[in-house]
Amino acid sequence: MKILITKKIPEEGIQFLIQKGHDVHIRSHDAPLKKRELEQIAQDYDALLSMLSDSLDDSFFSSSSLKIKAIANYAVGINNIDLKEATKRNIPIGYTPDILSQATAELAFALLLSVARNISSSIKNVHRGTFQGFDPLGLLGIELQKKTVGIIGAGRIGKAFAKICRNGLEMDILYWGRTEYPDFNEEFSAKYIEDLNELLENSDIVSLHCPLTKETHSLLNYERLKKMKKNAILINTARGEIIVESDLVKILSEGHLFGVGVDVSSPEPMKLDNPLLKFPQFTITSHIGSATFETRREMALLCAKNLDLALKGQKMLTCANPEIYEKNL
Ligand code: DGY
Repeated sequence: MKILITKKIPEEGIQFLIQKGHDVHIRSHDAPLKKRELEQIAQDYDALLSMLSDSLDDSFFSSSSLKIKAIANYAVGINNIDLKEATKRNIPIGYTPDILSQATAELAFALLLSVARNISSSIKNVHRGTFQGFDPLGLLGIELQKKTVGIIGAGRIGKAFAKICRNGLEMDILYWGRTEYPDFNEEFSAKYIEDLNELLENSDIVSLHCPLTKETHSLLNYERLKKMKKNAILINTARGEIIVESDLVKILSEGHLFGVGVDVSSPEPMKLDNPLLKFPQFTITSHIGSATFETRREMALLCAKNLDLALKGQKMLTCANPEIYEKNL
């Protein structure tokens, strides 16, 4: 079957598909595909291995010439895909849960340490020649041991992050989300907080690990950000749209929050004239949550296996809309 991979992925995934006899085409340009361009190119293919930067919305699925039978998204987040429209057309959507949890949690922790200890300002000082030698009052940070971390969305990544915070730095864990997890409470002495404001008021660190949905879009607006402790740290490795960016700018201008570390923004990449980039206490990385050799290899293989199975009419290993299988029994 003819498969389009919209950006080059680790070789293991490509070779798997080729060995299974598929006709694999890899788009060679680095820039993300424009919506129209993707809609047009996709018409020639039976399956798609897509990136989180590809917009697969209702207009993509409603094209009459679309013959795509399966999609594997190279991400755990599937907010770039209109799942309802895919399900309506019986198109299984593969995604990559579990395997990227540790890598993303480690990146969240790296951002946390970086913000708490002013790492990016310190690096810039050396590079710009503004470091003038040891300074007893220079770039003082915050120690994290035994602090309270509030996790928004204690799913797979949120739990992996909590584990690092608890086992590494004896932090107290609070969490908010749709679900309470008794095992998690027990293992990490974690406390489920029903009221988001209560979590924000009581956490020294707030870290976002929820998916982007209608409910979580703009979850952290001005009022909620203001509930956070004045010296708190905010970490976002989930999706940019969960924080109202203009409200974050306002909060930082008011001197609220010690610092913010994000791996995601909306849009991506962040525009270079974005006012957030002017705040020394704002640290941003380039959506590298899952970017380890180990994880990206596993993601490539899982996407390839999902597509191969789906094209043979079998169930994907990790499918975001498994209800299509029930429908077709
Ligand atoms: C995903 O896979 O959704 C993550 O954003 C990767 O970092």
